[in-house]
Amino acid sequence: MQARNSNIQYGWVAVLFHWLMAPAIIGMFALGWWMVGLSYYDPWYRQGPDIHKSVGILLALLLVARLLWRWLNTTPAPEPAPRWQQRAASAAHAVLYGLLLAIAISGYLISTADGRAIEVFNWFSVPATLQGLENQEDIAGTIHEWLAWTLMGLVLVHSLAAFKHHFVNKDNTLRKMLGLAPRR
Ligand code: HEM
Ligand code: HEM
Repeated sequence: MQARNSNIQYGWVAVLFHWLMAPAIIGMFALGWWMVGLSYYDPWYRQGPDIHKSVGILLALLLVARLLWRWLNTTPAPEPAPRWQQRAASAAHAVLYGLLLAIAISGYLISTADGRAIEVFNWFSVPATLQGLENQEDIAGTIHEWLAWTLMGLVLVHSLAAFKHHFVNKDNTLRKMLGLAPRR
């Protein structure tokens, strides 16, 4: 399997980006949702957000690398489908990328609202830049939450579309993203 995408296949780099990030993003949603309900006396009260922020920054870096790679590559041609469906699929992909970017930015703005840097697993730190705006933490937090829910809704539709292509249309849409040889 080649590294770069071709007209008929995703290369292994794009496949790796997709399947490394998808479970991590779903895990981040679950962690975020769980951790905001913890009480001050819970041992995870600090550890949960520390892990969420660290993984979040790593995901943001991966996202930038992924977008760069996509920009330097072709994307495989879509499987035969009505034109509106092909357009909807590419629009959905663009919105998925946009949501991920906006979630990373709003998460960064919550975490750095008080001017403190984000310690990424005691490995490196990301300094605060925009800080101290009025109600920054609350506003960024509300936006972050809404964007995260919107992302999960779109991911559900995206996954159902992938299964529909695979099991109903029996085309190569999902096989392409799994790095498998085309069916015909
Ligand atoms: C794919 C990436 C991410 C997803 C899916 C995600 C999801 C979530 C969710 C669902 C919550 C709970 C919101 C609530 O119910 O109030 C949350 C909270 C939070 N997230 Fe994220 N997040 C992501 C990335 C990030 C990043 C990159 C950062 C910062 C660097 C971050 C920082 C935070 C913080 C500080 C909170 C707590 C907010 C509060 O206390 O109300 N998140 N996240
Ligand atoms: C958090 C979860 C997920 C996110 C954020 C996500 C995001 C994306 C994005 C942005 C693309 C476009 C790739 C490109 O051309 O640049 C894509 C493609 C694809 N994804 Fe996902 N995905 C997720 C989960 C899934 C799941 C669970 C499945 C399967 C059940 C799936 C199946 C596919 C397939 C088949 C493609 C190729 C579509 C095509 O060639 O038209 N994805 N995904």
